[in-house]
Amino acid sequence: MKKLFVFFIASLFLASAMNGSVFKGQRAYMKLCKKCHKSGGKLSQSHTQEEWEDYFDDNAKLLLDAHKNNMDAMEKLQSKRFKKNIRNLRQFFVKYASDSGNVPACN
Ligand code: HEC
Repeated sequence: MKKLFVFFIASLFLASAMNGSVFKGQRAYMKLCKKCHKSGGKLSQSHTQEEWEDYFDDNAKLLLDAHKNNMDAMEKLQSKRFKKNIRNLRQFFVKYASDSGNVPACN
């Protein structure tokens, strides 16, 4: 029984390590995007899940494209923190996308 429990916890960790985490994505949003886009909830609701996946595919190629004329934004989007959090940000936006049925609890 105990072994099963440990296995269960371990696989939870593994799953979140592989898929990224909504929580970490939200934190990354606060550091990287909030300054310009304000509410992450509103921004995420402005696109569907599929659109967000497109934005973050290929190391967030489309997202970088959308900011390429904005030096301040590009600085953030080329930072280590952003690269480390691409998967987490994707999770966050997909979770709260307009067709997700989820609405963020705060902001
Ligand atoms: C320095 C300011 C700045 C930062 C930082 C920034 N953006 Fe943007 N972003 C902009 C501007 C300006 C535009 C282009 C204006 C527009 O089309 O609304 C834009 C456009 C976008 C778009 C496409 C248009 C839209 O509203 O759907 C998305 C998606 C987006 N940003 C997401 C993000 C995410 C996610 C982050 C953080 C990882 C981020 N931005 C960081 C300023 C910023």
